[in-house]
Amino acid sequence: MPRKSKKKSQGKAHAGLRPFFGYYGGKWRDTPRLYPSPEFGRIVEPFAGSAGYALRYPDRRITLCEIDPVVAGVWRYLIRVKPSEILRIPDLETDQTVDDLKICEEAQWLVGFWLNRGVSRPRKSASDWMRSEIRPGSFWGARVKSTIASQVDSIRHWVVRNCSYTDCRDFRREATWFIDPPYQAAGQHYKFGSGAVNYEDLAAWCRSRNGQVIVCENEGASWLPFRELSDTKTTRKRRSKEVYWLSNWNRKPKATNVAPPSASARRGVEQS
Ligand SMILES: C[S@@+](CC[C@H](N)C(=O)[O-])C[C@H]1O[C@@H](n2cnc3c(N)ncnc32)[C@H](O)[C@@H]1O
Repeated sequence: MPRKSKKKSQGKAHAGLRPFFGYYGGKWRDTPRLYPSPEFGRIVEPFAGSAGYALRYPDRRITLCEIDPVVAGVWRYLIRVKPSEILRIPDLETDQTVDDLKICEEAQWLVGFWLNRGVSRPRKSASDWMRSEIRPGSFWGARVKSTIASQVDSIRHWVVRNCSYTDCRDFRREATWFIDPPYQAAGQHYKFGSGAVNYEDLAAWCRSRNGQVIVCENEGASWLPFRELSDTKTTRKRRSKEVYWLSNWNRKPKATNVAPPSASARRGVEQS
């Protein structure tokens, strides 16, 4: 019996954490299936959103950088909030908005992200989808509160910066960089969307990171030599052809796809 419980807890650790909130373009579901595992103890997500990659490896040193003060504010709140406080946040009655809840602004934003699915900013009131009660566990309610409360202690060591990636202070550190900017063609849905990103500058920035770099984009983007990754189902049931770029393609012999490189080999990796 003791053996069984050990295995179970190991399995849990590998799976990481569940999303603290749903987000448009979130990578939590696809991370274990599509993207390489981190080779470094530090992970930086300079376009954090809901931090779908970091959630899978929560014990690493995690730095999130997010320009949207609402998204960064939710992360700051989650990093400091007590589980009991999450459990005390009320449900939202049908005729209520989050402004009716006597909770801090950041908690209102957190609840607001759970009033619909795959949104890029919090809502004030329940979506039709939530009101239909077809999937109650997917919207703000007891199950969501319990999941969040059970996880907040796991992210106390995470650091979040509310700034542009260009000002991210950790930029010289050796790390696994999971870079998921608003997609050049389809990333206008964010408050801070693709219109404000200079992709030529971003390409140079990605190439000059120190460590392992994983960059996400959508089919058609050419600001880096992207390769096809997969067909991914989006929240809205459309197909989206994802592409990606890895800093270590040119250096990694094919065989390392089978076995991970040794620590010393990893140190020797240069930037392209
Ligand atoms: C595609 S989403 C990231 C999704 C994330 N990978 C996830 O799993 O949820 C891109 C994010 O980058 C943020 N963003 C846009 N411009 C930025 C900038 N210059 N610096 C930092 N973050 C930025 C947006 O607010 C948005 O949250």
